[in-house]
Amino acid sequence: MPRALITGISGQDGSYLSELLLDKGYEVHGVVRRSAIENPHHELWRLPRESLDQITLHVGDLESYPSLQSCVRKSQPDEIYHLAACSFVSYSMEEEFSTLNVNLTGTHHLLSAIKQWAPESRFYFAGSSEMFGNAIQSPQNEQTPFNPRSVYGISKLAGFHLVRNFRERHGLKTSTGILFNHESPRRGFQFVTRKITSYAARIKLGLADSLELGNLDAERDWGHSRDYVKAMWMMLQESEPDDYVVATGVSRTVRMFCEKAFARVGLDYREFVKTNDSLFRVAETTPLLGDATKAKENLGWEAESCFDEMVVEMVDSDLAALSK
Ligand code: NAP
Ligand code: GDD
Repeated sequence: MPRALITGISGQDGSYLSELLLDKGYEVHGVVRRSAIENPHHELWRLPRESLDQITLHVGDLESYPSLQSCVRKSQPDEIYHLAACSFVSYSMEEEFSTLNVNLTGTHHLLSAIKQWAPESRFYFAGSSEMFGNAIQSPQNEQTPFNPRSVYGISKLAGFHLVRNFRERHGLKTSTGILFNHESPRRGFQFVTRKITSYAARIKLGLADSLELGNLDAERDWGHSRDYVKAMWMMLQESEPDDYVVATGVSRTVRMFCEKAFARVGLDYREFVKTNDSLFRVAETTPLLGDATKAKENLGWEAESCFDEMVVEMVDSDLAALSK
């Protein structure tokens, strides 16, 4: 039975990935912060009970090398999926030091622990389309020069170089997925998609009367988290480690997302959505749009979920949760 260790298992992607790996017969280990063990109902809400019962949790924090070293040593993984990060781009501007510490130094801690305790394992690093930032071309692929515009993007780009350096210098089997935005009913509420679907549901139920957003014309290439965790797994099944862009190849505006989400509850978003200048990003990226040809050709990966169905799934899930 293959053994996998997932950092960030309590997050959106960690929850879908753990379900995928359990379905494939893996022994799944997860790194969580102490607060999750102390308050599982609140902190581990994304992990279904039946998954949680089969997962071995280890207490670890990216900011602590000894804790990560202990997680790797105790779990002896064949595959490591490093998903934990400060992942909200706007916070990364206010929390520069902790973002760099968690996303870059934390990745360094983990790589060093792997070099010592699991040098034969395969390692996945959660890179991001934010590494492209103010890209000079669209769509972006593995050859597109990186030009990050946020501290988050800088931390992920530095992490990407470190991961590649451990591959070249120490022979570790490390791969990076450069993933474009992916969403689901398990998305955090601060991200724009979940903010929109939860407010569409609240407004429908009379629990709120308006929604404030920033730039409605910002464009993103939105896929479904369930599809994207499959790409992570596929990367680690390859004989040689490599880096891949994972995206749908279709970009949409925040406005289009609002239109679909509010239409699902029979409302016209124009009557409820207001813009607030303070929610605009000072340094917005070039419209992020990914070209996942390499992932398609080498891994046989393609996005399966349809955008409209994903929006409906998210709105319906929020409606159901709020109606309880
Ligand atoms: P998420 O829902 O925000 O999950 C982040 C995870 O990181 C949580 O489990 C969180 O644990 C954990 N974490 C944060 N700081 C930590 C620390 N100091 N020590 C240990 N764990 C820590 O993110 P996601 O959407 O699943 O994304 C997974 C990864 O992919 C992230 O690295 C993200 O940057 C990257 N990514 C995401 C997307 C996307 O569109 N979703 C696109 C490209 C790349 P707590 O529950 O304790 O906070
Ligand atoms: N969060 C948020 N809130 N975003 C808004 C709002 C708002 O009220 N109004 C407009 N937006 C715009 C942002 O300016 C951005 O252009 C877009 O919506 C998407 O924002 P987020 O959902 O916060 O995601 P992100 O693209 O910044 O970052 C996500 O995707 C990255 C991959 O490109 C995160 O998951 C990152 O962790 C990930 O790496």
